[in-house]
Amino acid sequence: MPGEAGKSRLSHPNFSPCRFHSQKGKSQLAPLFFNIIKMAFPGRKYISKLSGNHILIFGGSSGIGYCVAEASLEHGATVTISGSGPAKLTAAVDKLKSTYPELAGGVHGYTCDLSQPQALEANLETLFRNACPDASSKLDHVVFCAGNAIKPVPITGATVDSFQAASYVRLLGSAMVAKLAPKYLVPGPASSITLTSGTMGDKGYPGLAANSTYCVAREGLAPGLAFIPEVSILSR
Ligand SMILES: NC(=O)c1ccc[n+]([C@@H]2O[C@H](COP(=O)([O-])OP(=O)(O)OC[C@H]3O[C@@H](n4cnc5c(N)ncnc54)[C@H](OP(=O)(O)O)[C@@H]3O)[C@@H](O)[C@H]2O)c1
Repeated sequence: MPGEAGKSRLSHPNFSPCRFHSQKGKSQLAPLFFNIIKMAFPGRKYISKLSGNHILIFGGSSGIGYCVAEASLEHGATVTISGSGPAKLTAAVDKLKSTYPELAGGVHGYTCDLSQPQALEANLETLFRNACPDASSKLDHVVFCAGNAIKPVPITGATVDSFQAASYVRLLGSAMVAKLAPKYLVPGPASSITLTSGTMGDKGYPGLAANSTYCVAREGLAPGLAFIPEVSILSR
């Protein structure tokens, strides 16, 4: 996970390359694995920088988010992944556990549907509480890769509702995650929230005017969040 430009993660008092969250149910083998990595690569400041970190990945049940989960595990982190429904999420958790059996205790998954604006904050609070049941399981990084399928609608057929609905998961979801996450993140500049957008804001596609609009809006969200105290915000 990249650190904020000009700030060294390694010099920050909150950063400990061998910190391990004693969350209930986590494998006793995980700390051993992290120590083996550290011993195998002494003095490597990049390869072990996620070691012992806890990373929450929205949209971690497939695509980019799933790859972030795999990469995080390979770099020694524990992961909590989220998606809207249980079947795909359970399959993703099981696949991660079978791919990395020695790290299986460090893989968790909880559903959180981001497509219902009225329930969005309540769903997110429940997810954060599940992911961080105690102070020792606080998050180091939150990565937002969730994105639902949006049916193309030509602007001539768009309604206020259809245009707004395209913002729910990606834009409102990102904004409310940024609102609630700091309470569950380890305070300090080494912690981060990463938002993903897309190139649709630079190049239009037929029927996807709303998607293009919200891609640009998410780009604008990141600098708007720069005033969250002591958390690095990254976007693209
Ligand atoms: N792949 C690319 O080339 C590319 C390029 C630029 C930008 N992007 C953007 O990056 C993001 C991820 O892309 P991807 O290719 O990895 O997509 P993906 O494979 O379809 O993954 C989307 C993730 O979002 C979750 N999700 C969907 N609807 C949700 C909802 N209502 N509430 C909570 N989670 C939900 C999905 O889980 P469930 O299905 O279980 O809900 C899944 O985990 C998207 O916003 C996409 O637009 C992708």
